[in-house]
Amino acid sequence: MIVDEIEKLKRERSAVILAHNYSRPEVQDIADFTGDSLELARKATEIESPVIVFCGVYFMAETAKILNPSKKVLIPDPSAGCPMADMITAQELRLFKAEHPGAKVVCYVNSTAEVKAECDISVTSGNAEKILSTMKGEKILFVPDMHLGSYVAEKLGEKYECWKGCCPIHAALKAEEVEASRRANPGAVVFAHPECNEGVRKAADECLSTGGMCARAKEVAAKKILVATEKGILHRLKKENPDKEFIAVGELECCDMKKATLENVRDALLYMRHEVVVDEEISRKAKRSIDSMLAVK
Ligand code: 13P
Ligand code: SF4
Repeated sequence: MIVDEIEKLKRERSAVILAHNYSRPEVQDIADFTGDSLELARKATEIESPVIVFCGVYFMAETAKILNPSKKVLIPDPSAGCPMADMITAQELRLFKAEHPGAKVVCYVNSTAEVKAECDISVTSGNAEKILSTMKGEKILFVPDMHLGSYVAEKLGEKYECWKGCCPIHAALKAEEVEASRRANPGAVVFAHPECNEGVRKAADECLSTGGMCARAKEVAAKKILVATEKGILHRLKKENPDKEFIAVGELECCDMKKATLENVRDALLYMRHEVVVDEEISRKAKRSIDSMLAVK
């Protein structure tokens, strides 16, 4: 069976498998650790095994490599990109900075290593508010997600210059879909990811990272939870809360997050292929912005 093959190869290669909360259910089940971007980045710093197989999108595997450069980081399908991360290039960011001298540059971790190398600090959806609350009153350029940027700015009563990038999957969800789902499920609580547009965020009860959703699902009294994010997370939510019901609002799916399969995880381990490589200079500069983020506990 393929799962046994993966287990055997994992032992032979002394490999650790990390998976994002949106990965395919069967991939989450063979992973050693499943989490959100922040949890996966922290985990990557702790891994002692020589090989990390990263089941998520490229910027996440790249972040793991930057944080633990002596490890071989493999991505089962290197075409697994994040369209939002590609909405700003390092050159575009340099021009943006030149238009706003003296501003601090905050980048969502959903960005390329080249972009992180140009930033002061990275943030994830799980720590953006906390990090930005320490920068109140400063002039902030926020890239690339305008929705996360405006969500945090509004919560903190600040104004940021946000790059006009977004997650095409989350941004397309409509507030009416949340409202319709709420009407159909009276008494349910609504979780939305901050990559959603303002209407959806306002229609939700709580805005949370995927890791935040997993934590809050255990705490809330409601037995029914409507989830406005990529539907892959339902696997973990259901597994960890068998007494609760989870309903995906809008059935959002990120095809890049589904690119890691049992077959290509097995093949990555078998052929030790699709290694993530980051230019040394870029890696050194990008690491500063990621380290600054991880220093905030
Ligand atoms: P999280 O860090 O909340 O898991 O989000 C990552 C992501 O890509 C959401 O679309
Ligand atoms: Fe990128 Fe959106 Fe997919 Fe997350 S869900 S990886 S932000 S495209």
